[in-house]
Amino acid sequence: MLISKNLTAALNEQIGYEFFTSMQYTAIACYFGTEALPELAKHFTLQAEEERTHALKLVNYVVDSGGKMIIPPIPSPQSDFKTAEEACKLALDSEMEVTRKINGLVDLAIEEKDHLAQNFLQWFVNEQMEEVSTAETLLRIVQRAGEAGLLLVEDYLARNGLAASTPDLNAQ
Ligand code: FEO
Repeated sequence: MLISKNLTAALNEQIGYEFFTSMQYTAIACYFGTEALPELAKHFTLQAEEERTHALKLVNYVVDSGGKMIIPPIPSPQSDFKTAEEACKLALDSEMEVTRKINGLVDLAIEEKDHLAQNFLQWFVNEQMEEVSTAETLLRIVQRAGEAGLLLVEDYLARNGLAASTPDLNAQ
């Protein structure tokens, strides 16, 4: 067994949170779907799929390192939103929370001198840079457009996608 009981428990908790986030993004996608905003719905459906991938990546690590995988109880996500801004703000808050949790996992791996886990978790550390940045960009675009201008957001997402909204400042 390459993993401690402590770290196994912490990773299981993170697996639950990633699945929760996947459900939360599905609920946000449904909100945008019922508001007839298909591009925003598509964006959050893709995000939900990504969170499921994160959970499964953690599942594989726990199993491969010999830990016991136990998915914790997962609370219901928020399904009602008053505005697009509220939904996008929740997504950003969620990504900030994931970042805090990932940092906590790295701290634990360092404390336990678990180099394998530290190395594995670096992928998540780097991933959060993109996740937070994407959520922040979308929130700012939605705020700039305002509720009355959400069709502009739809048009923007349909033409550019969100990844293209962040210029690569290091590009030559
Ligand atoms: Fe799994 Fe969006 O962080």
